[in-house]
Amino acid sequence: MSSKTVLSLDSEAVFSLKDGINFKKSPDDGKCYIIYKENGELKACKNQCKHQGGLFIKDIEDLDGRTVRCTKHYWKLNVSTMQYVNPPDSFTQDELDEGGLQLVEVIVWDPWLADPQDPQELQEGEVTVTYLTHACMELQLGGKKMIFDPWLTGPAFARGWWLLHEPPADSMERLCMADLIYISHMHSDHLSYPTLKSLSATRPDVPIYVGDTSRPEPLSKGSLMPFSCYLRQIDEHLRFMILKDEVHPELDTCIIVEYKGHMILNTVDCTRPNYGRLPHNVDLMMSDFAGGASGFPMTFSGGKYTESWKADFIKNERKKLMNYKAQLVKSLQPKIYCPFAGYFVEAHPSDRYIKETNTKNKAEELNALIKKSAPGITTWTPKPGAVLDLALALMSPSRKAITDPPSGTNIYKDSWDFDLYVDELNRAITAEIFKHKSWIQFYYIWAGFKNYNLVVRVIETDEDFIPIDNGYNYLVDFMDLSFPTQRPTREHPYEEIKNRIGVMRHVVKNGLLWDDLYIGFQNRLSREPDVYHHRFWNHFQTELPVAGPDWDLFLQQVSSYQRSAEPQGIQTESVSASTLSLKKADCTVS
Ligand code: FES
Repeated sequence: MSSKTVLSLDSEAVFSLKDGINFKKSPDDGKCYIIYKENGELKACKNQCKHQGGLFIKDIEDLDGRTVRCTKHYWKLNVSTMQYVNPPDSFTQDELDEGGLQLVEVIVWDPWLADPQDPQELQEGEVTVTYLTHACMELQLGGKKMIFDPWLTGPAFARGWWLLHEPPADSMERLCMADLIYISHMHSDHLSYPTLKSLSATRPDVPIYVGDTSRPEPLSKGSLMPFSCYLRQIDEHLRFMILKDEVHPELDTCIIVEYKGHMILNTVDCTRPNYGRLPHNVDLMMSDFAGGASGFPMTFSGGKYTESWKADFIKNERKKLMNYKAQLVKSLQPKIYCPFAGYFVEAHPSDRYIKETNTKNKAEELNALIKKSAPGITTWTPKPGAVLDLALALMSPSRKAITDPPSGTNIYKDSWDFDLYVDELNRAITAEIFKHKSWIQFYYIWAGFKNYNLVVRVIETDEDFIPIDNGYNYLVDFMDLSFPTQRPTREHPYEEIKNRIGVMRHVVKNGLLWDDLYIGFQNRLSREPDVYHHRFWNHFQTELPVAGPDWDLFLQQVSSYQRSAEPQGIQTESVSASTLSLKKADCTVS
């Protein structure tokens, strides 16, 4: 860590700051800051939203003059406390130290500079990068083969995401030949259990490297790596370091791979990788680009969520994301840039509405934008099986460095094994635990979220989000973790969440994060008022206990539960289901 002065104000300028919110620009680099003045005391922060880096402007609805509004997703920050007020209980903005005259930013050290290696000349074929599918790249680095984020088969996020690109036919063999694998984070389009299950049948010994995030499980099956330092043990030429994301440090990571002094930067899905400090002029950079990786707003209804509002929102968001990525690439000036990690499709027929409305950025469009603003950067729109030869790419732009798959190769998938995986999820429907309605109490007590003023109605539905006659339909009051039959009379925010029964029960039974439901488009939501409850969603999406509910204990105790603590207002159920169940334990890779 180090610090630098980012803005200096002389005493006259400090004196002339008005009480309340002031926006200031640094004359040196044009960056913007917010200074809040009250009774001669100053508080300051960067004009950069903690959510996804948006710019703040004055909040005209704020009569107290303490709040600014982000232009990106309209979150609101109270600069007198540096707390976000909408969404409530979410982030705290990083305050800059101020000495009255100078704003000082603590900056993260650039760890890749600690022990620099001079780039050595590469031979043709020495370093090749092969795109397999989605976020999965194979790197041949001298004698070692490294693979990023292998999702090669099956769906992700329960059954909501399916591979858009057809991986090369020998992808699984390639994976089994890997010397090391990097998994950036636990989202299932990166940590794919069906893929790892196949891998473990052949190569249970392959080293899997993951960052030492605060939620390592189930990633802790791999080798946990400390952040921001090179692992030197690979071989004399190859090393890599894993870096944290600023917005989701508990979850997201990215990686720098260095071979003979040549750097490959993969920022994967990080919103603000390594707190915004990244190496410039790397040889190859890859990052996500597509957007659409959230249930918001397509799974929402009521209030403002009309089809036209959603369409406008999606259009604007994608445009902002595209501009942000283009700007980032331009500022970092990699020699080659490749957009990836966005090649998924909501292919299941029951998700047609999402597929048709949740439009994503196109890699070609982003690359065209980059070409326009930074013509010196070579861009690569990857096709499955395409190979980049780094030595050729660095030698001369006129050398053909990228070899596309032979013409006639299937680029896009045209069929998916839906039934295998959907049946597998639906097997949870008939699990013994759901015969006893006190599973609800047991589950939410295990989940451990309470003392928060929110009432949620959870409804089990069929494929079309129609409530199932005999499905569960219950209220949870998270203020005191009770299960009332009717909404309480006190003032309270309320959400209604309709979940496809198979996925909901699979999630409950296995103690999984609710990403499968929310990011996987497996629920439909409405809320009053229309407020994002960050604490609630953050808990169910990232903070559930690592060990799942002890359902064996539950079944042992169930008769006493039913005698003494049956929740009220819960309908009984008798729903049939088909076969198979995906279990974490089935897929362990040692
Ligand atoms: S970037 Fe500010 S609200 Fe999303």
